[in-house]
Amino acid sequence: MDGNGRWAKQKGLNRTEGHKEGVKVVRKITRWCAKNSISYLSLYAFSTENWLRPKIEVDFLMKLLEKYLKNEDKTYEENNIRFKAIGDIGCFSDKLKKMINSLEIKTANNSSLTQILALNYGSKDEIARAFLKISKEGIENNATKYDVISKLESNLDTAGIPDVDLLIRTGGEIRLSNFLLYQCAYAELYFSKTLFPDFNIIELEKIIKSYKQRYRRFGAI
Ligand code: IPE
Ligand code: MG
Repeated sequence: MDGNGRWAKQKGLNRTEGHKEGVKVVRKITRWCAKNSISYLSLYAFSTENWLRPKIEVDFLMKLLEKYLKNEDKTYEENNIRFKAIGDIGCFSDKLKKMINSLEIKTANNSSLTQILALNYGSKDEIARAFLKISKEGIENNATKYDVISKLESNLDTAGIPDVDLLIRTGGEIRLSNFLLYQCAYAELYFSKTLFPDFNIIELEKIIKSYKQRYRRFGAI
């Protein structure tokens, strides 16, 4: 979800206005996905590298997240959406941690869309945390590489969630920025120049249509 800051700057507004506008787009896309048989929608909300931003912006994003989780309660219930967070939320405030955990529990049995918010998420961080867990449990002497793959996958934050089918990055940059690197092994990639606050359902439908026309071979012919 890239381009919030530039969107605001173009309009002579503070960067924070771009983030607020971005939240509205998140809400619209989430509802649309729930109503259109999409099973999983993962949104990169805050990366392990975003702490490098000025404290004032980081603080604002944390407050915005709190507000979002509180206000979206209705959206999850009315649209039968399950909420799940990925990332290392250990360093978040107790209040935020509690909100995240209770929303996950409250929506656990909802069955239309699973909305995954990546919060303090980075692929390298996720894989390192998975390795720490695995090394504590230990690995059998006769384990094969296939056993290792399955052990790794079941210790990633995304355990139980299928790999990414389609990755969309808005904002014009052509890079993955440490997002679901392992899980994107065979993802179809789509880069849009649209700044995230201007992203809409019409563009999303167009991207999905073009995705459906791609022939996915997964290494075969
Ligand atoms: C992405 O928009 C939103 C978050 C990382 C929370 P940016 O804040 O990166 O917007 P630009 O790239 O500066 O325009
Ligand atoms: Mg950016």
